Amino acid sequence: MTQEHDSRPDEWGEEYWNEKYRSGDRIWSGRPNRHLVAETEGLVPGRALDVGAGEGADALWLAARGWQVTAVDISSVALDRAAAHAAEAGEGVENRITWLRADVTRWSPPKPPFDLVTVQFMHLYPNPRARLFADLAASVAPGGELLVVAHHPKDLETGVPRPPAPELFYEGDAVTAALSEGEWDVLVDDVRTAEQTLGETSYTVHDLVVRARRRG
Ligand SMILES: C[S@@+](CC[C@H](N)C(=O)[O-])C[C@H]1O[C@@H](n2cnc3c(N)ncnc32)[C@H](O)[C@@H]1O
Repeated sequence: MTQEHDSRPDEWGEEYWNEKYRSGDRIWSGRPNRHLVAETEGLVPGRALDVGAGEGADALWLAARGWQVTAVDISSVALDRAAAHAAEAGEGVENRITWLRADVTRWSPPKPPFDLVTVQFMHLYPNPRARLFADLAASVAPGGELLVVAHHPKDLETGVPRPPAPELFYEGDAVTAALSEGEWDVLVDDVRTAEQTLGETSYTVHDLVVRARRRG
């Protein structure tokens, strides 16, 4: 794993995420995110960047489909776990993924550009988020795509457990604002709902899905 510069201690920073990952052997489902699958299944594999890769399910799924993946996360605990899952999946998957530990609020995407940049459920404060989305948009190759999926602010009205910080939540314009005018086609800018049961309570969850293609 490549080591980037250290992150500043912060409420939702490295220590928070390492503790969260240490709280269980596996905190996510191990399955790739459904919007990633739905939106990218038909794409020709190339170079992909998975931002906030967590335990690596998306990176593994992409690699198994032939993508060469760079997967970045702030949490070394998550990345160690993700790398172990990749090793279990075999060389064909493991050799297609580079794990990179970095705080993306203080980082620039590696070059050369990517055919797919995917961001699944990353919730940053507005300023670092705007800067990150601008950097990520700039890192997409002509003809390539940016896919951002996030918990929509409507979730804050439903009682579903979310961090108590409304500024971390955003709508599609937070993503599309990062796209230079005339250079992109926005293919999807939706709020999608699904039913989710936690314990004995069912919630309607709202996912923001933004998918944009850079013109070739
Ligand atoms: C809600 S989890 C989503 C994980 C994965 N994308 C998924 O959908 O299963 C958010 C992820 O973003 C990572 N993250 C949060 N802040 C970050 C930052 N500043 N730099 C890099 N990664 C960060 C966390 O460690 C965590 O793995």
